[in-house]
Amino acid sequence: MILNIVFIAFLSTVVHGINFNCNHENAVASFKRPTYDFSVRFLDRVAQQTNYHFVFSPLSTWLQLMSLAEGARGPTQTEIWKVTRHHRMKCFRRKFREILNSMDDELSFMTKRTNVIVINKLLDVKESFEEEVKKTNTTKLFSLNFNDPAQAVAKLNKAIDMDLNDVGSQFDVNDFNLTVLLMTDTAYFKSDWWKPFNPVYTSTETFYSEENIVIGKVRMMQHEEYFNLTEVPLINARVLELPFNSNGRLSMLVFLPTRGTVLDLFYNLKNIRLTTIFNLYNAEREKFVRVQLPRFKILSELRNIPELVYDMGVKRIFYPDLADLGGITDYPVYASLMTQIADIEITEQGARPSIIPDSLIMKPEHDSIVFSANRPFAFLIVDRLTEAILFGGLYRYPSIH
Ligand SMILES: *[C@@H]1O[C@H](CO)[C@@H](O)[C@H](O)[C@H]1NC(C)=O
Ligand SMILES: *[C@@H]1O[C@H](CO)[C@@H](O)[C@H](O)[C@H]1NC(C)=O
Ligand SMILES: *[C@@H]1O[C@H](CO)[C@@H](O)[C@H](O)[C@H]1NC(C)=O
Repeated sequence: MILNIVFIAFLSTVVHGINFNCNHENAVASFKRPTYDFSVRFLDRVAQQTNYHFVFSPLSTWLQLMSLAEGARGPTQTEIWKVTRHHRMKCFRRKFREILNSMDDELSFMTKRTNVIVINKLLDVKESFEEEVKKTNTTKLFSLNFNDPAQAVAKLNKAIDMDLNDVGSQFDVNDFNLTVLLMTDTAYFKSDWWKPFNPVYTSTETFYSEENIVIGKVRMMQHEEYFNLTEVPLINARVLELPFNSNGRLSMLVFLPTRGTVLDLFYNLKNIRLTTIFNLYNAEREKFVRVQLPRFKILSELRNIPELVYDMGVKRIFYPDLADLGGITDYPVYASLMTQIADIEITEQGARPSIIPDSLIMKPEHDSIVFSANRPFAFLIVDRLTEAILFGGLYRYPSIH
């Protein structure tokens, strides 16, 4: 009996390996778990670095590493693949890039990401790598003269400014000192809710610490509506879904701890998958919820991404004598600087002109469940289609916005 099972398992692996079709569905399926695992592990590290108040786009860092891996060779490449678990088959990586490109196209009105890879001009970047990078819409490659840091900085900041009107980037001359390869990400997100909050109900309210101590005031938005809300015991949190106006693709998931602290949330998220939450929503149906959520804006600039990437196990790319980036250039190069600036703004409405939704005027008969984010909470902005985590963050220090 046991032998039988082993035999079947063996057979099915072989068949699986040969017949695994490189199509759209399989590509999405094969990337869900690796991007999710990478994202929540990375967010946990970013949280610790930022004193647990931040916004960050883990997908951008994952893509940065994907670009680097295309130019890496030997153990350097293996190491990146081990951490990001990019698919070994080029066809899958290409398919996934197409999926992300079309996501960026479709959602460009609310989110924008720019990855920039900057390499010293003297290093003769290979054309094959330039071609490879071009295939990712959001990634741009610059060859700049690092011996003239002032001009390089001006060019870089200009390129980033043009792409992101609101997010300025502050590179300075020192960043080019002793640098050969630097990578920077900029990402912003502006809300545009599927069901906007009515500003009439927004009021200044108290915000508490996790120990129930008053720590400040926020502009609290309010909403009574049918939403997905569930409790996930494995992460000790209640999770509310607030969809954006995006054909059912993008949602913000808001996490409020039921036990323990929100500081452990990203760590605990590795126990589940996004599907776990969506399946619970499916089973429990939408509930009539009274939502309270502060208006907020967070801008995070993270400059020590190499430390975090190193901590995850990608090490060789940072050592001049170990990094093998032979796919990028024949000169010895290594990555010296990786940064990210992320910006998020959450308001009643977002970019659209204000419309007062009718549903708010009618007061339903039955009682609503209260979900009040008047204490530290975590959030994820997710794409339901690909289950990619576009942004993750924590709100812990209240301010009037
Ligand atoms: C992004 O890539 C897709 C193909 O994957 C292409 O159709 C689209 O035009 C590209 N968009 C931009 C802005 O380059
Ligand atoms: C690089 O930085 C070091 C220390 O900050 C400084 O002594 C050196 O002059 C700088 N080199 C250049 C080329 O700016
Ligand atoms: C609630 O979750 C279900 C199942 O995942 C989904 O089909 C539906 O669009 C969600 N509704 C809202 C309002 O988010």
